[in-house]
Amino acid sequence: MKDAQPATIYLKDYQPFTHLVDSVHLTFRLAPSATRVLSRIAFRPDPKAPARPFHLDGEGLTLISARIDGKEVSPEITPTGLICEVPDAPFLWEAEVEIDPASNTALEGLYRSNGMYCTQCEAEGFRKITYYPDRPDVMSVFTVRIEGEEPVMLSNGNPGDSGEGWAEWHDPWPKPAYLFALVAGDLLAHPDSFTTRSGRDVALNIWVRPGDEDKCAFGMEALKRSMTWDEEVYGREYDLDIFNIVAVDDFNMGAMENKGLNIFNSSCVLASPETSTDANFERIEAIIAHEYFHNWTGNRITCRDWFQLCLKEGLTVFRDAQFTSDMRSAPVKRIEDVIALRARQFREDNGPLAHPVRPHSFVEINNFYTATVYEKGAELIGMLKTLVGDAAYDKALDLYFTRHDGDAATIEDWLRVFEDVTGRDLTQFKRWYEDAGTPRLHVSDDFNTGTYTINFKQETPPTPGQDSKPPRVIPIALGLLDQSGTEIHETTILEMTEAEQSFTFEGLSARPVPSILRGFSAPVIVTREATNAERAFLLAHDTDTFNKWESGRALARDGLVAMIRDGAAPDDLYLDAIATMARDDTLDPAFRALALGLPSQEDLAQTLFEGGHTPDPLAIWEALETLRHARAEAMQDTTTRLYAKYQVTGPYAPDAAQSGARALANAALDMITRLDGGRQAQAQYDSADNMTQQLAALGNLIRGGRGDHAISAFYDQWHHDRLVIDKWFSLQILNADPSETADVAETLTRHPDFTLKNPNRFRATLGALSMSPAGFHRADGAGYRLLADWLMQLDPLNPQTTARMCTAFETWKRFDGDRQAMIRTELERILALPGLSRDTTEMVTRILGA
Ligand code: TRP
Ligand code: ZN
Repeated sequence: MKDAQPATIYLKDYQPFTHLVDSVHLTFRLAPSATRVLSRIAFRPDPKAPARPFHLDGEGLTLISARIDGKEVSPEITPTGLICEVPDAPFLWEAEVEIDPASNTALEGLYRSNGMYCTQCEAEGFRKITYYPDRPDVMSVFTVRIEGEEPVMLSNGNPGDSGEGWAEWHDPWPKPAYLFALVAGDLLAHPDSFTTRSGRDVALNIWVRPGDEDKCAFGMEALKRSMTWDEEVYGREYDLDIFNIVAVDDFNMGAMENKGLNIFNSSCVLASPETSTDANFERIEAIIAHEYFHNWTGNRITCRDWFQLCLKEGLTVFRDAQFTSDMRSAPVKRIEDVIALRARQFREDNGPLAHPVRPHSFVEINNFYTATVYEKGAELIGMLKTLVGDAAYDKALDLYFTRHDGDAATIEDWLRVFEDVTGRDLTQFKRWYEDAGTPRLHVSDDFNTGTYTINFKQETPPTPGQDSKPPRVIPIALGLLDQSGTEIHETTILEMTEAEQSFTFEGLSARPVPSILRGFSAPVIVTREATNAERAFLLAHDTDTFNKWESGRALARDGLVAMIRDGAAPDDLYLDAIATMARDDTLDPAFRALALGLPSQEDLAQTLFEGGHTPDPLAIWEALETLRHARAEAMQDTTTRLYAKYQVTGPYAPDAAQSGARALANAALDMITRLDGGRQAQAQYDSADNMTQQLAALGNLIRGGRGDHAISAFYDQWHHDRLVIDKWFSLQILNADPSETADVAETLTRHPDFTLKNPNRFRATLGALSMSPAGFHRADGAGYRLLADWLMQLDPLNPQTTARMCTAFETWKRFDGDRQAMIRTELERILALPGLSRDTTEMVTRILGA
């Protein structure tokens, strides 16, 4: 039921809980529809907390009995918990509740997935398991007893005693309830072990359902690499005797860092060459690292309240990106991250859902697990590191770990360690956490008798609730090249602190070419009138790999904008420059594949809108197709050579070298398919022995209108594999002709394998629709209607995933009046749904705006 008036929660209202928790004992008597949870919790008044009634969070629980110090009590039950009279002294709380995991489709709390029991407690799911102060600043030591028929029964910490039908676990590390986890079912272990550098032996397991055991090896190796890396780079060791990972099919997000018992969406851990693409392997490695790294940044040091979410998420994303850079190619990882940042975070920051990295208020915290908190949060750490330098960063992190181990900390605590280590005042830097919006950085320059001056002006547009933004500190990494392409001034960090600021370089013999914002040193939008010739020059000569890529991207983007806006022809300078780049075999194939990628439809829509034009999604799509075709013709010889040269021979490995070669060959295949009618793609499809090659070929066949046979062959081959069938659903939608995207998606929602109960499958279908801009924004509104219909069906079952997928509509104000009217109609239709969840209500209300 929808609350009468969903309450807004404010950071400024923070108060500690009334009590401290000395210990928690939980007993689970598992039964699918009637699990009993017995809790025994030692509370003690917190002398530092203001006196208030004793309140425990609880949702959807049936209270069987409650006792204080052994005496039965009758608390007042409210829709969100209970209030009880308690002694003004330490006391023992005992309660028995009944819950119904089998009918839990929201996938929060204790639920069933494919016959197993599992939990998801972040952010506020523990309150669906038992009455408790479900907030991250209440930390305690948990002991858990599980009673049931399941062959495997797991919880956090170290294993205790076990016997026929029961198992006990004890976690010695105090933790908040959101890190609690329980898993029980018919599971098989892929076991291994790890010895920490101080000599602690740790048992490692990846637990899967029978049939998936051959997909664990890569994840296990990634886990061991992560453990070693965190010891070597951050000096952080693992701290329990066992580390378990469980793969679960039904999961709202990617994975969860529960102490000693990480739970993963099976799509984020299971991998094999036959069923997973190179991109899947890279993502799995990163997510395993991410969850493992949370053991220190998140678990040992957690968040005081959910406004501080970026404290653990921004830092952990930053750490997993460092890890991937070390394991693979740092420039390639940086380019990939910036592509994703622009597609998701800039989009968010420039629309109605814009919010600060540390929000000031929320209604439903699940709606704030966003690109801004995660990815922009990680960018802030990167800027901090750039500003203070690597050595000071390391010192600050050491201080953070020693000073705050065991704490529920805040962004103030985090910034304080940097201030204490460096003596810097970070007051201005903190604005990056407080203020939403992407700064625009306007650049101009000037050369006069040996002196080069570069002028910057910063400006952040208003965002909901924040009209004016004072200037921020922006680290601008700058290098200078001379006209022959030699670097004459290597990268320096210009620290911009004012609204407008100039920097000069003296004693130059000629006007230099600036390479601005190297490595994407700040999450800003640079606006600069640069000539195409300068962009082509930097694509050819910049020593900074990121800016080399960026120049090619800007050249492509400007040409595309001219095609869309003015009906211009494909830009010859771009076609020449990109062909020269692609032919250069001294360049990393992975880099070349990225440089051959064109700006996304989303990127172009943002650019057009920024320039004062109403983006037409179909026109954007057509311009991209035209340019791809022109490029395929211009590069014909090169593509044939690249395709042949970068075929990988020998056994498949998901490493950076092989996946880079496959990416480049498949970029070539896209161009070849535009001219050969699909002959090469069909040959690749027929001979593929790994999913990267098979899927790339299938995508090309579908785009070329020759996919029907392969689509059904693929289904016949893979119908038994859920994760591959997710790919089958999304690929057909993502590669459909825009006039048919919505119909393809609609047809697939009627396929027997489509289900509302599995978020992966729902995202593979309706998510793919919303990620196909030209198809989703079809002029007759069919895409909008289809998505809204299904979101309304999903909301009663799974509010969290529904709310998240409403972001498909967040860009609605960019479009023409007809499209805006149609989207508004759909948003209002969703909002009018009786009993609409708090999650979706908040999202749709914010998207509609004031
Ligand atoms: N803490 C998790 C992570 O970033 C995120 C997460 C997983 C999550 N499942 C969730 C957040 C469910 C909210 C709800 O690694
Ligand atoms: Zn995380």
